[in-house]
Amino acid sequence: MFDLLIKGGTCVTPSGRVQQDVGVRDGTVVATGALDASQAKEIFDAKGLHVLPGVVDPQCHFREPGLTHKEDLGSGSASAALGGVTTFFEMPNTHPNTDSAEQLAWKVQRARETSVIDFAFFIGATNENADTLGSLETLEGCAGVKMFCGSSTGTLLVDKPENQRRVMKSGRRRIACHSEDEARLQARKGLFAGQGPTAHPEWRDEACAVLSTTSLLALARETRRRLHVLHVTTQGELPLLEANKELVTFEVCPQHLTLAAPECYERLGTLAQMNPPIRDARHQAALWDAIRSGLVDVLGSDHAPHTLEEKQKPWPASPSGMPGVQTLVPLMLNHVNEGRLTLERFVDLTSAGPARVFGMLRKGRLAPGYDADFTLVDLAAQRTITNDWSKSRCGWTPFDGMRVTGWPMATISRGRVVMRDGALVGPPMGRPVTFER
Ligand code: DOR
Repeated sequence: MFDLLIKGGTCVTPSGRVQQDVGVRDGTVVATGALDASQAKEIFDAKGLHVLPGVVDPQCHFREPGLTHKEDLGSGSASAALGGVTTFFEMPNTHPNTDSAEQLAWKVQRARETSVIDFAFFIGATNENADTLGSLETLEGCAGVKMFCGSSTGTLLVDKPENQRRVMKSGRRRIACHSEDEARLQARKGLFAGQGPTAHPEWRDEACAVLSTTSLLALARETRRRLHVLHVTTQGELPLLEANKELVTFEVCPQHLTLAAPECYERLGTLAQMNPPIRDARHQAALWDAIRSGLVDVLGSDHAPHTLEEKQKPWPASPSGMPGVQTLVPLMLNHVNEGRLTLERFVDLTSAGPARVFGMLRKGRLAPGYDADFTLVDLAAQRTITNDWSKSRCGWTPFDGMRVTGWPMATISRGRVVMRDGALVGPPMGRPVTFER
């Protein structure tokens, strides 16, 4: 007997694309193959659709507690589900910061009540909690430690190498880092006074990223700590990451693969402003080479909503960040359709990759014994991304008006349909992800 039978879809499995049904019981995949529909309580007709293992977005800012005029765990998770995402990891630069067991437990409880999909939270490293992170990183619902090495939105910052070393020595899990060199950021801040957002990637330049990543790799080697570099944007970091692959994994964001300077700043102004910045075509081409070659481990949206009013402040007072959790799947499927990556590589980057990098249990694969998390996509559907479709509380997307081919038609979380044909279904039932320790 199955609680749910997904019938007639093309499944992307570890063996490649297979035309097969998927049987789900108690939230788990229990059978694949040609399955008997009379054995099912509910049937999902997936004819014409590709059934992907659930897409994981390992970098979102959902702003709760404290900044819920931009987003909260309910609205952020809803936006994710509408975009075909089945699991999110959320970042600690809320207000207050998620830098203690109490703050982490608060988020986990709040997400249990309001999140429509599964979740985990990063704990933020600070100079104060540096020596206690080893016990914090293994708490329920924790995706690991996040260290801001360069300042961005909020107050989290560990910029001095001696404190970064303390952070790296405390704990064993892979540590996620925002890698920009704070000293260089501060030294150059004044150089671009009176200019607009086009100067953003000049201020936070390639050297900022390369200096920081070089120093983090040396610290990781010294302390034997596995490292994960978030949102890599520069050509210059790629050979360093390649040469240290036994230590380091890294993420690339869809917006860095899709938008390019200077055009994006001329068209979108401060809406295109984020950290690390959208850069020019040379960097974008290098990131695509790294996607193609297999060097990149995961995709993450860095969903970072700010209101339009906040974004209207003149640069550099305008906050950095843009929403993205809902557009990750459509944008990348459009890239699949345009031949920039295969559907299999997309699945590697959004399911198998996050499971491997972060040690997620029971997620990342469409196979018996795994959670029944699926992203069902129509590779041929043509749609236009609009502000109206975007359900982030901030109410806008930098991709408003973009026509794409390939669209998420349903999101299934542990055997429950949570989104179908653009509508959310059912109450919030998200649960914390479990991890290897
Ligand atoms: O652009 C960004 N916005 N980069 C970050 O690192 C943080 C994020 C935010 O929280 O707004």
